Amino acid sequence: MLVTGIFISLEGPDGAGKSTAAQSLVPLMEQVSQQEVVLTREPGGSQIAEQIRQVILDVNNSAMDQRTEALLYAAARRQHLVDVILPALAANKIVLSDRYIDSSVAYQGAGRQIGTQAVWQLNMFATEQLLPQLTLYLDVPAEVGLSRIQHQRTTGLDRLEQEQLAFHKRVQQAYMQLLQDNPQRIKRVDATQAPAQVVQNCLQIMMTQFKWAR
Ligand SMILES: Nc1ncnc2c1ncn2[C@@H]1O[C@H](COP(=O)(O)OP(=O)(O)OP(=O)(O)O)[C@@H](O)[C@H]1O
Ligand SMILES: [Mg+2]
Repeated sequence: MLVTGIFISLEGPDGAGKSTAAQSLVPLMEQVSQQEVVLTREPGGSQIAEQIRQVILDVNNSAMDQRTEALLYAAARRQHLVDVILPALAANKIVLSDRYIDSSVAYQGAGRQIGTQAVWQLNMFATEQLLPQLTLYLDVPAEVGLSRIQHQRTTGLDRLEQEQLAFHKRVQQAYMQLLQDNPQRIKRVDATQAPAQVVQNCLQIMMTQFKWAR
């Protein structure tokens, strides 16, 4: 499929503020780019991918093998790509995805310790190498992100979120390595700042990268 739109992903540890920033970013991006923005999160808006996701997050599936989990994430990503991202890009829209491949590399590869290279390769197969043109990494210490989520929650944490802080520290280290290895694609934003400032920084990076005027 011909890809003509712009593909941007948001990454960062749990509670970094990705979903919060995404909500504010969409209208601002549309304003400066004069293009329609499709906000998506994996596996949102794709029925098959959503069903795969249910299996991953089901608290009854605590016996799930780590490679099974990585494969399921890659499968959900594939279906979401085909159902949601590629059609939007082909229609010349901007896709803003709340998490993408880097999340799998960080969470499954490093967090679950099955290897960042293996998970990267698996996802290269799943996506036929379709990477975002730009990835914004919302950087907060793992402790800060987790405490933001715990304050906000009234329901329990899901299976992944129950993992201890050590897991989240490995995730963060892997993200740092990804940043180092992909300096052209991944840009860091200080997400300990106030939400409005985080959004402004993200927008500024996009405007520079895609030559959008205000
Ligand atoms: N810049 C910020 N400063 C302080 N609190 C914030 C900031 N951004 C978001 N929050 C708050 O932190 C909590 C988590 O934010 P959000 O859900 O956007 O994070 P997330 O990165 O999408 O997390 P997850 O990976 O779990 O989806 C929310 O209660 C949100 O209001
Ligand atoms: Mg979120």
